Amino acid sequence: MPSLFDSYDLSGLRLSNRVVMAPMTRARAIDTIPQEHAAVYYAQRAGAGLIITESTQVSSQGRGYLCTPGIHTPEQIAGWKRTTDAVHRAGGRIFVQLWHVGRVSHTSLQEFGQAPVSAVAVRAAGTMVQAYDAEGKPAQVGASEPVALEIAGIQRVVADFLGAARNAMSAGFDGVEIHAGNGYLFEQFINGGLNTRDDRYGGASIDNRLRLLLETVDAVAEAIGKERVGVRVSPFARLSDLHAFSGEEDTWLALAEALSKRGLAYIHASHLGTPEFQQAFREAYRGTLIMAGGFTAETAQQALEDGQIDLAVFGRPFIANPDLVERMRHSWPLAEAEREAFYGVGTHGYIDYPPI
Ligand SMILES: Cc1cc2nc3c(=O)[nH]c(=O)nc-3n(C[C@H](O)[C@H](O)[C@H](O)COP(=O)(O)O)c2cc1C
Repeated sequence: MPSLFDSYDLSGLRLSNRVVMAPMTRARAIDTIPQEHAAVYYAQRAGAGLIITESTQVSSQGRGYLCTPGIHTPEQIAGWKRTTDAVHRAGGRIFVQLWHVGRVSHTSLQEFGQAPVSAVAVRAAGTMVQAYDAEGKPAQVGASEPVALEIAGIQRVVADFLGAARNAMSAGFDGVEIHAGNGYLFEQFINGGLNTRDDRYGGASIDNRLRLLLETVDAVAEAIGKERVGVRVSPFARLSDLHAFSGEEDTWLALAEALSKRGLAYIHASHLGTPEFQQAFREAYRGTLIMAGGFTAETAQQALEDGQIDLAVFGRPFIANPDLVERMRHSWPLAEAEREAFYGVGTHGYIDYPPI
């Protein structure tokens, strides 16, 4: 019977246990550069079998929030190198989550105040981002109306992911996770309700709507090795003004099958909907499946034993419990995180949670 505390062979990378730290935006980068305190924060949590970093933009076009880091300039790469060195010194493994927000952005964050980009020119209604107001002060503002990417723009997005993945290797990461969930760019292409393009990247055809993601996965896998690439999806989360659409289940199962053929490191899923769909997804994707969403030590262990997952991903519990794996191993009590400090308030609530 597999245990959360058993080691795991993640396509050739040995993980010391089956607990993964979830990607969590903490909004503490300065001018998009991860700071020394990020190295401290991640190294404190290196007891996880695998850490997945906070969302990290692949280009300035891919940025949707203030204080999130990038991985497309030499300064950002150097900033991340501090983190990967610190995590490796502490015996951990770390993937970077590569991110393009698409339309979940604001003109004040884009170069020359341009519109953000998406599959189609439809604004994400009711979606707020952390950007600048009309006076140039940091503020919560509504996402701007995007422009639809033209073919050259689509090719540039693929090239940006490829560049970011190469940068991740120079920064010392063990791999990359392509963020195709939570309503960001890839999901804006995958969602059949939103993506009404009439070219080979959209419309009724599932293959067309999956094309941007799969071309990106293939380019990245060819450059850095398929065993170093994971993909995150959140099929029924429907965030940032994405909605149910016809053929939704078939779309996600087709993606699971297409990714299965590629022999990647893993799929990281959340919001898989009903137990029946979860089972169908598990059958369609024959590689390592890792999952996040409200796990406790007990429910994660059960999911491993039931064969639903290969690795369990924990988010919020890692914020206040840097030694989460040890606490779970010994059934020690868990600390509660301070929600007000989830995002962007310096070192407090970030690197000042002690281990037991
Ligand atoms: C503060 C915070 C920031 C998050 N940022 C990200 C992110 O950058 N990328 C991502 O894919 N998910 C993000 N998530 C979602 C988590 O990865 C995870 O799926 C979620 O917290 C559910 O797991 P949990 O119940 O163990 O916390 C974030 C969650 C939290 C609480």
